[in-house]
Amino acid sequence: MKLNIALLAGDGIGPEVIDQAVKVSDAVAAKFGHEINWKPALTGAAAIDAVGEPYPDETHEICKSSDAVLFGAIGHPKFDNDPSAKVRPEQGLLKMRKALGLFANVRPTFTFPSLLDKSPLKKERIEGTDLVFLRELTGGIYFGEKGRREEGETAFDNCVYTRAEVQRLAKKGFELAMARGKKLCCVDKANVLETSRLWRETVQAMETDYPEVEVSYEFVDAVAMRLVQWPNSYDVLITENLFGDILTDEASVISGSMGLMPSASLGSDIGLFEPIHGSYPQATGLNIANPMATVLSAAMMFENFSLQAEGKAIRDAVNSALEKGMVTEDLADGGTSYGTSEVGDWLAANI
Ligand code: IPM
Ligand code: MN
Repeated sequence: MKLNIALLAGDGIGPEVIDQAVKVSDAVAAKFGHEINWKPALTGAAAIDAVGEPYPDETHEICKSSDAVLFGAIGHPKFDNDPSAKVRPEQGLLKMRKALGLFANVRPTFTFPSLLDKSPLKKERIEGTDLVFLRELTGGIYFGEKGRREEGETAFDNCVYTRAEVQRLAKKGFELAMARGKKLCCVDKANVLETSRLWRETVQAMETDYPEVEVSYEFVDAVAMRLVQWPNSYDVLITENLFGDILTDEASVISGSMGLMPSASLGSDIGLFEPIHGSYPQATGLNIANPMATVLSAAMMFENFSLQAEGKAIRDAVNSALEKGMVTEDLADGGTSYGTSEVGDWLAANI
């Protein structure tokens, strides 16, 4: 297969982890007879510095003419500490998600047998966890009207959802549940929020189309608790944009490191694959960031092209690296650790 992949390294540790995902993907392509044409493009603070905006038109054209986008990370402290900044790196990611129609963010949470004792949670609680969040990605409070009123003394961010937006996300949730454990949890705050009541009503109306799926409705605060108490009681969870952002960071603790969790953003022909972690500015250029989340995002990319064996080759390499202790410092517990690029080299050599 010939694949054109837009390569958006972004900020902070983004370029370092992306380099490893490229190495590993190239090794997969060589082994399985594919050809990958990488098309680098600017995004985030790097793009603001170069051309004044975080998702330039040229980058969008490159993404649109590609089969998928592999993305590193976005964000820079110089913007975080300047609340008055008009242009922010994160706007680039949001604009890209919207412009490419990527409304469904698939975030799996799973444990690795060799890392069960790395999680701060008790082994017997997390063993066997295999759940997937479907986070709505192009609506809600992230995209509603925002502003300041009364001479800057009042600020607002509106949360808006349409029934159609909920339906298309929920449809993916039901389909995913059918292909997995046939359990779907709709996470909302329907006791308080009108948007959540629309979510609940919409999902309830779809239940009859999927009689085999056991559907539950839980409030987001309760899910935040149960997620770390009994994570293996969940299968597929669907939720709105902000709740999904928060809960997936929380869920990453289950696996032992946020540096392990990949994601896929889907909704149109062009999928975007990225680690769920941020740009980790403190580690920039130090060759210490864990590349596995980005490498596993590349595995999701291959699988989304229905190249299952290719995805599995990557997952197998990651599993053996973890078993052999070929890990970055976040997983080393003060013991021997390896650099970002050493882990990448090892993975590529073991495809
Ligand atoms: C994520 C990130 C982004 C989000 C930021 C960088 C805008 O935290 O992908 O989870 O909030 O969606
Ligand atoms: Mn996040």
